[in-house]
Amino acid sequence: MVEALIRRFTPGLHHLQIKTASQKTPGGASHTHFSLVPGHGKHILRFKNAFIAVDRQREGKSFDAQGQPFETIKLTTLYAHRHIFEDMFSEAHSLSMQSIEGKTMVYTLRNMTWMPLGDAKRKRPFDSVVLEEGMAEMIRDDVREFLNARTWYLDRGIPYRRGYLLHGPPGTGKTSFVQALAGELDFNIAMLSLSQRGLTDDLLNQLMLNLPPRTFVLLEDADAAFNNRRQRDEDGFSGATVTFSGLLNALDGVASAEERIAFMTTNHIERLDDALIRPGRVDMTLRLGEATLWQMEQMWDRFYAHQDPDGSKRTLFIERVEQYGLVNSVSTAALQGLFLYNKDDPDGAVNMVGQLLMAKTPTMEVPKKN
Ligand SMILES: Nc1ncnc2c1ncn2[C@@H]1O[C@H](COP(=O)(O)OP(=O)(O)OP(=O)(O)O)[C@@H](O)[C@H]1O
Ligand SMILES: [Mg+2]
Repeated sequence: MVEALIRRFTPGLHHLQIKTASQKTPGGASHTHFSLVPGHGKHILRFKNAFIAVDRQREGKSFDAQGQPFETIKLTTLYAHRHIFEDMFSEAHSLSMQSIEGKTMVYTLRNMTWMPLGDAKRKRPFDSVVLEEGMAEMIRDDVREFLNARTWYLDRGIPYRRGYLLHGPPGTGKTSFVQALAGELDFNIAMLSLSQRGLTDDLLNQLMLNLPPRTFVLLEDADAAFNNRRQRDEDGFSGATVTFSGLLNALDGVASAEERIAFMTTNHIERLDDALIRPGRVDMTLRLGEATLWQMEQMWDRFYAHQDPDGSKRTLFIERVEQYGLVNSVSTAALQGLFLYNKDDPDGAVNMVGQLLMAKTPTMEVPKKN
């Protein structure tokens, strides 16, 4: 953060370092920026009326997860100018906030802790994920209501947390929805798969206690923790090392004044245990299923509103979809695939409806375990 700030100063004359930041655009073009920043060692800078001695040092040979060396920057100024630091840090803070405004930060597990996954990403628009009619808004309103009820929880000594379980077949928008909701409510996301190797009960607990502020926690493949109650493989490895009780402990955690909002996802709700579905662990269970007629129409409009203004091609598309018996039996991801393949070409999408048959899922439901 301080470095961002230093770049805006007129640097002292010695030890300039050229920092090259190269960025690839989706089109493949790359932009390269050069900025002059004070190199390692000592410098004198001026900020407002004060002179500040800057000592920038590398700390040993350690690197962070992004391969950036750890550094210490020591700032010294005259006692009379000590208040300048407050101005300086609040300016640095607001500069750094500007760079992530309107974006979603995604944290993942690296080096036993939460680390940002690349730079903050552009927010995913809320209505770009089409769930069953009204479901997305219902979940959003529930989260909002929870966020507004902080004092209610605290006054009653109830842990201020809420959990959602999203289940359903692959490619129905579980992960994407959490991303879109985070964008909508200005949250970041800390995501983790419970089947990830190297994840232990202790580590999971640590991670839940050390969530970055204003962050949804997204625990994917929640069923992985339940395999561990059954058998381990012959080699003693069961795929994941998080156990069922480990997951419950992590969800229960210690109460804190900060909100904690957890989303869990699974393709196999029948493998979960009812102990999970207790207030504070999972308050709401939602099934995201194969595309309904309504979802198909909505997705069509999102892709082809311009090319099909009167909706006549949409009617054709829906007729075909019904003929092939595809309503409620293909994933929204498969539908998106068809529309992407026929980008800007609604006729192409109509002609290729039959291709969706390959993506058709058997409708058989596995009964839920008691
Ligand atoms: N309901 C939806 N609305 C819009 N796009 C969707 C929807 N469902 C899936 N997609 C698209 O399909 C792709 C896969 O979706 P996503 O990863 O969210 O599925 P998922 O339910 O999390 O699947 P899995 O169970 O395999 O993790 C994404 O590119 C997403 O944009
Ligand atoms: Mg997913």
